[in-house]
Amino acid sequence: MTRFLPLLLAAALASGAQARTLAEIKKAGVIKIGTNAEFKPFTYFEGMTMRGFEYDLGNAIATQMGVRAQWVNQPFDNLLIGLKGDRYDLVISSHGITPERQKAVDFTAPHYCSGGMILARPGGPKTAAQLAGKTVATQVGTTYVAQIARVVGAKNVRTYPNNADALQALRASRVDAMVNERFYSLEAVKASGGKLQQGQMLFQEKLGMAVAKGNASLLKAVNGALKTVQGNGTYAKISKSYFGQDIRCR
Ligand code: ARG
Repeated sequence: MTRFLPLLLAAALASGAQARTLAEIKKAGVIKIGTNAEFKPFTYFEGMTMRGFEYDLGNAIATQMGVRAQWVNQPFDNLLIGLKGDRYDLVISSHGITPERQKAVDFTAPHYCSGGMILARPGGPKTAAQLAGKTVATQVGTTYVAQIARVVGAKNVRTYPNNADALQALRASRVDAMVNERFYSLEAVKASGGKLQQGQMLFQEKLGMAVAKGNASLLKAVNGALKTVQGNGTYAKISKSYFGQDIRCR
């Protein structure tokens, strides 16, 4: 018997755990959603409670689909890889829709539009031109890494596993600037009590939710639910409660 085990294991690894279909998710009554919840105001913890624009939106989409959302907090860099196992069905974590990521996962229609903004200490760089020769921090695995490298060269990019660490590096003058999501950056400036200043937008991107490659039934259901909540006022209400404006793509 045991001599078959390596074979079975190899087969299991080759096929990968199967993503759950819409029917399976509905039967279970629960959709598992992966996120990196240290990204205020998108998904973050307030004490033990998860909150945020994407948290509320994900819950509204689940409700629309007739299921309950169960959130799984992961390091950002693991999120899309985790869709290949069956750790969660959907990822909602402000992923820029890029051709490279589209090779690995399927994206929904964008659930908002935004981009990367420069952040620095008062008197620091505010424009892309002013970043020349400077060191710039950001979170590992994000679209910001390549965008920063385009401006300052790869050797001047400093990546951190968590945004909090990147922010700390900036505040402690270990780097000259940081690039991060526009609303995350505005939130950080607000929370810094004058210790940080916002700069220009470095680039724009469309942010989408991701399902395992080929999970067509789930993709269709999430897109349908997004469209419904964008049409019935739910999306606008959630967006305004966090940003004072509707951040959907125009
Ligand atoms: N928008 C960027 C990207 O697509 C960063 C997203 C970071 N999200 C997070 N929850 N930490 O890579």
